[in-house]
Amino acid sequence: MKFKIFSILGVALCGFLATTAAPVESEEPNELEPRFYPKSYIFDPLPKLTESSPTTRYYEFELKVKKLSPDGFERPVWSVNGQYPGPLIQANKGDRLVIKVINRLGDPATIHWHGIFQRGTNWYDGVPGQTQCPIPNRVSFTYNYTLEQSGTYWYHSHFLAQYVDGLLGPLIIQDPDDPYKNSYQEDYVVTISDWYHSPSAPLLVQRTAPHYTGFNPYPDAALISGRGQYNCSSPAAGKHCNPNVKPATYNVQKGKKYRFRIINTSAYTYFTFSIDNHPLQVIEVEGTPVKQANTSTVTVLPLHTAQRYSVILHANQPIGNYYIRANIIESCLAPRTNNTINYNSSINPNATGILHYIGADSYSKPTSTEYPVTFTLCRGIDSSAIRPYKPDPAPANITNSFVLNVTFAPNDDDVGLFKINNSTFEPIFNNPTNERIMLKEDYTGFEKTQNAYGYDVPYGGVEIILLNGGLANHPFHLHGHAFHLCGVGQGIDINNLTTRNLIDPVVRDTVIVPPQSHIIIRYVADNPGVWAFHCHIEWHVELGMVAQLIERPTEFSNRTLPDDVRALCMQYDSYYKKQKRSTAALPRGSMVKRIQIRKNGGESKKQIREEEAAGNGEEAVLNEGERYIETEENDIGTQANEEYLMSIW
Ligand code: C2O
Ligand code: CU
Repeated sequence: MKFKIFSILGVALCGFLATTAAPVESEEPNELEPRFYPKSYIFDPLPKLTESSPTTRYYEFELKVKKLSPDGFERPVWSVNGQYPGPLIQANKGDRLVIKVINRLGDPATIHWHGIFQRGTNWYDGVPGQTQCPIPNRVSFTYNYTLEQSGTYWYHSHFLAQYVDGLLGPLIIQDPDDPYKNSYQEDYVVTISDWYHSPSAPLLVQRTAPHYTGFNPYPDAALISGRGQYNCSSPAAGKHCNPNVKPATYNVQKGKKYRFRIINTSAYTYFTFSIDNHPLQVIEVEGTPVKQANTSTVTVLPLHTAQRYSVILHANQPIGNYYIRANIIESCLAPRTNNTINYNSSINPNATGILHYIGADSYSKPTSTEYPVTFTLCRGIDSSAIRPYKPDPAPANITNSFVLNVTFAPNDDDVGLFKINNSTFEPIFNNPTNERIMLKEDYTGFEKTQNAYGYDVPYGGVEIILLNGGLANHPFHLHGHAFHLCGVGQGIDINNLTTRNLIDPVVRDTVIVPPQSHIIIRYVADNPGVWAFHCHIEWHVELGMVAQLIERPTEFSNRTLPDDVRALCMQYDSYYKKQKRSTAALPRGSMVKRIQIRKNGGESKKQIREEEAAGNGEEAVLNEGERYIETEENDIGTQANEEYLMSIW
């Protein structure tokens, strides 16, 4: 049927293709059909798991670039199976996940399973240059690990800023013994996110350019569960903007109770989340069940990048429609100076969705009013609200203690970079740290830029004191563990730290470090491997705000790397060599395809020089201030990017 239409439209289509770039997916000749949203799983209650556990669950993730319009504005999205947010992974505690990733992005990729401990499987943690080599384009790789935790997690690409381009999704683990299991009838997932109309690669190029004095790229939209309402009549909207994206809508039945799992999948932004007229009882923070208390019911919930909460909502209000609100709090971002990338975006920072009572008129807009914010903005939820359900004291005896001081300074090329203890992290994609440890390399001799901190005492107590003397807040995330958040205090004087709560601190994996403040976290060294510890603001990651924790190298170095993980590095090396026609790359060794930035259309000076150089066998030389990224022609990722860039630059 499709082919018939295709041939009838053939002549017209050829004309269409001749004047525009090739379609993103040639096997789907539907480029002329209106692209409305396919029905998404995300607005349905989570399917009830019926299999007896433990079981093995198989998933196939095809990574591909697809044009989507989450907020109405069409752009290429780095997707899993063509969806944004990506497919739901749901399992029971104790299950094994086997996820085959088939990379057709045109870029290398990895997938990280945010919050999952990966005990015994550090090489499936998905961090390029730390736990594996990137999966090259047109290569598949299978992640395979067991779930010992339960709660609300997510997965996302950890390769450059690829998750900002859409490569992410929820990962939900049910626990048959969840203390709140019988406290609600249905279970919903909500993602909240900032969103950018430009692919991340050119944003990164600009963000990491010499002499750049602005702040992080300003987002274009706020999304709830992958949907937003961009102002299509704003001049920046262009011609491919759909003003009729249906707002995120969750259906409830009066009298029932619902669990909502809220995940902030942003690149950058701090959100407040609320549902008008409906207080939310917090029952889970990042995998840790929360004890019920007066304070654990909130009206407005703050979440920074990568943070998650589960709340229970009681649908006990008059039948009607109520706003679901996800507000980017702009005062928590760096100032919107006019030298900041995309500072003049037409963002509506206040995304709305709808809580729809079954029986209410679907077409009448909510008239509900917003709850006021009664806590300090830019900060986390009051820690007394989220005491762990089960007593879980922090380790009292510390065998290894680290002080990590975060600062910002320009390098010799006048690229402003973050430093941890005076060192900017630089990944070495083709020589992952964990493989080096397994080859018995001594981490104390690593390059300074590896930001490697090790500890070797089995089940020792680890304490990290993180000092942030700057003016920005940083949501710090630890891989391989959930940590006890023993304290958050003002100032960065190591002799004047806040009092530690060792008795019932919250246990989570992502914490907000406020400006000019410190945090103290503790955990037990019970998971040998290489674990990243980094700010989850993706722009800060690319500016080097990353440390690597080398946990129990003596034991870890005796483990055996699976053959397919080792093979990945060989595949990556040969891929990389083929790609390396030109040497310039994103700063600090990052390597993706070249994307020409065409300021005024046509060929740039760089491109012309490159063509000249290709003629005489030389490599093109970059002029000062010029940067580009390697390309592989005929790749859909490149085409999507180039097409996009040609339309906006
Ligand atoms: Cu959510 Cu290092 O990641
Ligand atoms: Cu940060």
